[in-house]
Amino acid sequence: MGVKEIFETMDYGPAPEAAGDALAWITDQGARFGHFIDGGFTKPGETFETTNPANGEVLAEITQGTEDDVATAVAAARKAQAAWEKLGGPGRARHLYAITRLLQKHSRLFAVLESLDNGKPIRESRDIDIPTAQRHFYYHAGCAQLMEETVPGRVAHGVCGQVVPWNFPLLMLAWKVAPALAMGNTVVLKPAEWTSLTALLFADICRQAGLPKGVVNIVTGDGATGAALVASEVDKVAFTGSTEVGRKIRQATAGSGKALTLELGGKSPYIVFEDADLDSAVEGLVDAIWFNGGQVCCAGSRLLVQEGVAERFHAKLTARMDKLRLGDPLDKSIDVGAIVHPEQLARITSLVEGAEGSVYRAACPVPEGCFYPPTLISDLSPASPLMQEEIFGPVLVSTTFRTPSEAVELANNTRYGLAASVWSENINVALDIAPKLVAGVVWVNGTNMFDASAPFGGMRESGFGREGGPEGLLAYTKPAGKPKAKKRIAPFAGAEAEPQPVDRTAKLFIGGKQARPDGGYAQVVYDAKGRVLGQAPIANRKDVRNAVEAARAAKGWSGATAHNRAQVLYYLGENLSARASELAARLDAMTGSKTGAKEVETAITRLFEAAAWADKFAGEARAVPMRGLAMALREPVGVLGALCPDEAPLLGLVSLMAPALAMGNRLVLVASEPFPLIAQEVTQLLETSDVPAGAVNLLTGPHADLAKTLADHADLDALWSFSGADLSGEIERRAAGNLKRTLVDQGRERDWFGPEGGARAFHDAATEVKSVWVPYGA
Ligand code: NAI
Repeated sequence: MGVKEIFETMDYGPAPEAAGDALAWITDQGARFGHFIDGGFTKPGETFETTNPANGEVLAEITQGTEDDVATAVAAARKAQAAWEKLGGPGRARHLYAITRLLQKHSRLFAVLESLDNGKPIRESRDIDIPTAQRHFYYHAGCAQLMEETVPGRVAHGVCGQVVPWNFPLLMLAWKVAPALAMGNTVVLKPAEWTSLTALLFADICRQAGLPKGVVNIVTGDGATGAALVASEVDKVAFTGSTEVGRKIRQATAGSGKALTLELGGKSPYIVFEDADLDSAVEGLVDAIWFNGGQVCCAGSRLLVQEGVAERFHAKLTARMDKLRLGDPLDKSIDVGAIVHPEQLARITSLVEGAEGSVYRAACPVPEGCFYPPTLISDLSPASPLMQEEIFGPVLVSTTFRTPSEAVELANNTRYGLAASVWSENINVALDIAPKLVAGVVWVNGTNMFDASAPFGGMRESGFGREGGPEGLLAYTKPAGKPKAKKRIAPFAGAEAEPQPVDRTAKLFIGGKQARPDGGYAQVVYDAKGRVLGQAPIANRKDVRNAVEAARAAKGWSGATAHNRAQVLYYLGENLSARASELAARLDAMTGSKTGAKEVETAITRLFEAAAWADKFAGEARAVPMRGLAMALREPVGVLGALCPDEAPLLGLVSLMAPALAMGNRLVLVASEPFPLIAQEVTQLLETSDVPAGAVNLLTGPHADLAKTLADHADLDALWSFSGADLSGEIERRAAGNLKRTLVDQGRERDWFGPEGGARAFHDAATEVKSVWVPYGA
């Protein structure tokens, strides 16, 4: 072809990356892999094949991990953990740095191996996956170095069990292994069955880097191996994958005391306003959905275009789709690689088959085999399954909107909340929309930007916990000190007595009003000497529903400025202080102890503390390696339920209420079970302190029943329990329904008078972190 013709067609030929080194590495290992346990590879057991999805060729045999394999790996990790932690942050930093250097040295090998095994374009593995994984190890080498300064008073969990999916095999490994090691944990990681090779190469790197034996263990296998790891003697489980499996893991770990983070599915909105740079937005979609065949959990797979430009945008988009190049993932000029596995191809095909709406398949040539054509489906109703379900393929669904508020409403019409993209040249519009989107990450005029310093993770059914940044470190640490088992407080005298019809004094507090309990019953409460103190209403399911509804309606509180919220909290403190001696006497009568005065005094401190923090825990900018700004913002979790502790009935309730309110949550609180009359005192306090109706709702009644109703409630975003009853397991198991966030004490004692009861101790659980990325350039 002459130069003239080349200029005319602008065609370019293939530019394949050589696979020789990667294939040679596989052959050198015998093309049959065992696990990596205690610093060495085990003999292969029963194996399955891992294939190159682009051509169906078998790459290697991988061992199916058994329960025994998992137990051996966990035991190796356990044996290594104490010495690894004792090495100290700076010592661990050196190891992490050594690993990073080797990851850099072997960048090309990792990139080629990843593309061979997963089918993603080499441009993606070379330019995104591998460099981002390296950056993760660098960043976390720093986190290890600075551990004492940045996470004071916290220590490693111990052994972490980690399960990752197939879409970013090495990158997900890095996201999990680097922070765990930095904080002094040891790990057992299970890669996805379709993509284990880069994890095994990583194991080889750990050996070369001289990492102590047992610190990193890799056990391969399918979901059954994953389930065995979750059930094993690990202290923390970290999982990335489907929401369905995430839910199972929530149930499997309920009540075990294992710490848990879940990064799950998504159906992320990609919102294009009419003043957007449409060509950039089209190009962004190439990154968001076509690249990697749409097999990205945070893929912008739901396109929302403003009506005025919809036609023009779709025309540009389909023209671009027609020009996409599908083919050999190792070809550097390929845009869309292979689908990871024929099973996944079948899943995508069946989801799209029979789709309503209008389906546009790109006119670009599609190679034979495990490839799927880039597809755009428009004119779907918001409730259509394709608008709601994760497809995990190069399939974009599209709809239009008229106004910014309609865009927000459509964007949030999903059970997920992982990521979102907003395209507008008007910074005011973009930054007005970003906080309104229910998503853990929002990209302004961009998509799929990741960095170790910017937390990543979901809201709603996209999971909980964050990876990256200081927030990610919290997930791999716990407070220092040995927890003591909680002492059960005897229920008040007469608690076993039959409930009585409710009298006129016993009221719940719902939506700013005192309300008769729906069931019409109350419990008579006696003091320590057996004298009647009053009646406490028994709330039922309907009362819980009403309270949650009232809290949902009180949106204004979450939207109020932190400055305003602080004023309300100071006022609560002031009003509590005005009633201090009266309340102290009442507490002493209820509990039969002499700690009332100290309790009231500390509760006042808690309110002032929370007020002080209200406008000082807003998040911060993060130093991401790009021209732009990435902000990790703190937002309220939403509607939060809490079962207050039996002990310290006033202080316990105030210690939970104050920080949760300060951070902008609306609350449904269940007062202490043995000392429920405290609710009446707090009701009076709330009524006189400018707390808006519905922001705090107060219930009383048996904790075990109310905990179930609250944990099952789909409109409750979080549930905390410090109840004396052993409710942690029940709450965690039931919370799997809508994957609500839980904070439970697992039967451990908490000192409400000390720092553990302080406002700062609850800020992380009372907020969600949202990373907002704003790239710039004139
Ligand atoms: P999956 O959730 O089944 O697999 C992810 C990982 O979990 C794999 O390593 C798997 O072996 C393991 N696993 C499976 N069952 C397990 C169990 N009971 N206990 C512990 N570990 C278990 O996801 P899969 O089947 O690969 O893909 C299904 C769908 O999930 C995809 O079509 C996609 O919609 C979604 N997905 C979402 C991902 C994300 O990053 N959010 C990643 C992968 C898949």
